[in-house]
Amino acid sequence: MTLRIHLAATLDELGGAAADAVLSRLRKAHLQGAVPVLGVATGSSPLSLYRALAQRRDELPPLRAFALDEYLGLPPGHPESYAEVVRREVVEPLGLDAGQVAVPDGSAADPEQAAADYEAAISAAGGVDVQILGIGNNGHLAFNEPGSPLDSRTRVVQLDESTRQANARFFSSLEDVPTQALTQGLGTIRAARSLVLLASGAAKAEALAAALQGPVTEQVPASILQLHPDVTILLADGAGSGLSPDLLNGQAVAGAFR
Ligand code: GLP
Repeated sequence: MTLRIHLAATLDELGGAAADAVLSRLRKAHLQGAVPVLGVATGSSPLSLYRALAQRRDELPPLRAFALDEYLGLPPGHPESYAEVVRREVVEPLGLDAGQVAVPDGSAADPEQAAADYEAAISAAGGVDVQILGIGNNGHLAFNEPGSPLDSRTRVVQLDESTRQANARFFSSLEDVPTQALTQGLGTIRAARSLVLLASGAAKAEALAAALQGPVTEQVPASILQLHPDVTILLADGAGSGLSPDLLNGQAVAGAFR
């Protein structure tokens, strides 16, 4: 497996390196004759990457994109729905057509069917070439909370209280944060051909250390990174402070990295 870790003081300094990783993989897929598929994440961590990609949008091949997750139960057009966040932060700055970019349908009458349809759409597009990721303070990926099966697929999930509290900053009050979401599963994320994860701040340090240096376990959803053959990790502002010098020097120290 290949693991690359980049550290900097701020994620702004890493947007360009993250964009390099994403663009090279999209171009490779394009050269192989496919319509490249980009997996997009919400949250604050990927914003410097999206800004860097927007500056280099002329280098983007024609592509399709799939978002990782979406709240269940917000009215369509709610500014904090991930459909709206992806429109503001990705579709418009990168000059994509809205029809190229799919987000799970958080207002579907039958959310389980919407989840199955979303998983099928990703497969029909040929799978994800490069998946952008953040990480939750509790080690979640997308909305796969601790306890999520390592081979899970797109489905309806309950949000942890800690996740609702962390995301309450985007809403007027904690009560306004949905309790459920549609999320790609850990198995869906693992099937992407390449993963690019960004994280910032000391609040993420413990989760990252557990994910990269601890056992691969459902209790730490991001520990699936250890099972993946092509992972690029960009960390800033103390997020990497729990990682061992051996891991940072590129030597595997734990779990499947050994
Ligand atoms: C949300 C999203 C995750 C994201 C996480 C971290 O819970 N569902 O996909 O990784 O937030 O967000 P941030 O990058 O703002 O710390």
